[in-house]
Amino acid sequence: MSNLRLKIALQKKGRLSDDSIELLRRCGLKLLSSKSSLFYSAENYPIDLLLVRDDDIPTLIQDGICDLGIVGDNVLKEKTQVNLEFSSCFQTIMPLNFGRCRLSIAVPKDQEYQTIDFLQNKRIATSYPILLQQFLKQENITAQIVSISGSVEIAPGLNMADAIFDLVSTGRTLAENNLKELYVVLESQAVFFKSTSEFNSEKKKIYDVLLKRIQSVIKAQESKYILFHAPRDAISKIREILPGCESPTILPLEGSEDKVAVHVVSRESVFWNTLEKLQTVGASAILVLPVEKMMA
Ligand code: PRP
Ligand code: ZN
Repeated sequence: MSNLRLKIALQKKGRLSDDSIELLRRCGLKLLSSKSSLFYSAENYPIDLLLVRDDDIPTLIQDGICDLGIVGDNVLKEKTQVNLEFSSCFQTIMPLNFGRCRLSIAVPKDQEYQTIDFLQNKRIATSYPILLQQFLKQENITAQIVSISGSVEIAPGLNMADAIFDLVSTGRTLAENNLKELYVVLESQAVFFKSTSEFNSEKKKIYDVLLKRIQSVIKAQESKYILFHAPRDAISKIREILPGCESPTILPLEGSEDKVAVHVVSRESVFWNTLEKLQTVGASAILVLPVEKMMA
């Protein structure tokens, strides 16, 4: 690995892996995997990817082995809460709009509970002991934290714990282990982050281009290109219905005096009820198209 290439640490196997790679491909990186496939090299840009366990990613950045990382905000939060030394090490660049999940307290399905006070003096298994400790303190709960690094969901079944505090995405793992979610403590998603130390000028150049591309990919994902026909005198109402839109382009329609074609880019998700509202003010032939790339 050359020092003049930017190194990004990604999750090897798990919820974030595919979306992380996909994001970088969308940024135009042509990725060649090595035999071990723990290492990817972009053939058209000086960037290398290192695929590792997500929990190791902050350490790789901290030690200067990698320059950038994509990891769940939950992993980063747990690390930075350990001590102040860690929190001054990392800088979150931006959330990435994928890998949404939550850190929740869960209990066996048949367990009855009224309030969160149920946790008083109970044993709670987790791989996020620091975040759990903070939560318990905030709720004035005294409980025993059972710290385990993986497969937390099996702890209640083995009578190692009365509850767990773990990551929930679809909820399938909880269901498979006869657990139910009791309380959401923290929402999380994938974030792009770096160490707080400065890049040298070569790496800074590579980073600046990548950052712009990631921003534009994310902006494009949220944006939609909307086309429709509408009565000319409904334009001001239409602008109220479509917030987050730049000035629409209004084009004449051949053979029609009072109707126009409207083209507009919406920077927000477009929901069915927005389209229905457009119809009520006379819009017709409505098309909503995805935006592939977007640069300001
Ligand atoms: C998480 C967590 C759960 C599972 C929850 O693993 O440990 O087991 O995903 O997802 P579900 O609600 O969709 O079933 P993560 O991706 O963090 O990997 P790791 O715990 O092995 O690092
Ligand atoms: Zn993990």
